[in-house]
Amino acid sequence: MNRFAWKGQIYHTNEKRELEIFENSWVLCEDGICKGVFKELPEDWKDAVITDFGDRIIIPGLMDLHVHAPQYTYRGTGMDEELLDWLEKYAFPEEASYSDLEYAGKAYSLFVRDLRRSATTRASIFASKHVPATELLMEMLDRTGLKTYVGKVNMDRNCPDYIREESAEVSGNDTEKWVAETVDKFENAKPILTPRFIPTCSDEVMSRLGEIQKKYGVPMQSHISENPGEIAWVSELCPDTKFYGEAYDRFGLFGGENCPTVMAHCVYSSEEEQELIKKRGVWIAHCPQSNINVASGIAPVRSFLDKGLKVGLGSDVAGGSSLSIFRAMTDAVMSSKLRWRLVDSSLHQLSIADAFYMATRGGGSFFGKTGAFEEGFEFDAVVIDDFALYTPKKLSMHDRFERLCYLYTDSKIIAKCVAGKMIDLE
Ligand code: GUN
Ligand code: FE
Repeated sequence: MNRFAWKGQIYHTNEKRELEIFENSWVLCEDGICKGVFKELPEDWKDAVITDFGDRIIIPGLMDLHVHAPQYTYRGTGMDEELLDWLEKYAFPEEASYSDLEYAGKAYSLFVRDLRRSATTRASIFASKHVPATELLMEMLDRTGLKTYVGKVNMDRNCPDYIREESAEVSGNDTEKWVAETVDKFENAKPILTPRFIPTCSDEVMSRLGEIQKKYGVPMQSHISENPGEIAWVSELCPDTKFYGEAYDRFGLFGGENCPTVMAHCVYSSEEEQELIKKRGVWIAHCPQSNINVASGIAPVRSFLDKGLKVGLGSDVAGGSSLSIFRAMTDAVMSSKLRWRLVDSSLHQLSIADAFYMATRGGGSFFGKTGAFEEGFEFDAVVIDDFALYTPKKLSMHDRFERLCYLYTDSKIIAKCVAGKMIDLE
């Protein structure tokens, strides 16, 4: 039995999205599973491996529900277009470079290093259409100990020749071969079906992906209702559907008990689309920074949460420029304030606790039972030294946490653990 106990200033959220603070307390882990938080170290844990982190902060690992690994190379640039033009001008040309495995190796090693050193413990990742580069990315990620889903992207129509898959058949065959090869290959990196979005995926590819999904039971990720031009295009391409979500659902690729699905954005999801999202248990990846950078809009996240939809956060690099989920948290809060002020005063702004909930429990549930220090949850944790944020003003524990989220770049991650295993932060 592998048991360890950590002492520090512990924060997490409960099911009601409230911030719970355990000052100078102990969190226990046995064989990768959390055993809860205690004020005093229980008598029968005195022989566990003990680490006293003193005044440092201990939080559950952060979850990135939506990020594009091959776009990491150009993050922080290309801020002059909205979605469809942005894809043509920046995303597609860069992703085409991943046909070159040497380039892919160089680029992915930086993405993997930075994700490993970040506060993120689990992520759902888009690769590119290329199978060899996607497998290389999976190998690299697997070695880190982070838990990831990685998707070879499908795109067989409505995109430039240089990035379009040869045919629906090639797209489907490549995908099935890749899933079969990787579904049991790695301990930590798992395949996830990844049709880029409806405009670039023919019905033939979608129906083949539906078959592959049933055969292998793999999860599924894509984009939905991100941008008005994109949505109008989907309704032209799929005249038989009432809303975007149906274009996935008719192929069995929109949640349900046997097809865990994460959909990025939902900025413009109609009431009907939201009802289907709820009915099918689809996770929403809210990507506030990307929604601002590519001028998509502001998703009504307060309403999603109030209706009981499952919401996590995504960095959506390189729509988003920052890989940090702390940054996604504060962007979510800030953009909710603009929505409240400028769009819909009935939807009150998000709190930092709402954002922390989405970043941990909300996104964590896509990966299983993780995202909080509750008994029976897989133990993902990050220990943070915020001493560089010292201020002579006496801060409440709440304010100290909020400040950490806004000023995270001045703090230092000193330990990180995924399912009870330590991650190398060098
Ligand atoms: N929709 C289709 N592809 C993409 C992408 O790469 N990024 C974003 N933000 N939206 C997309
Ligand atoms: Fe995206």
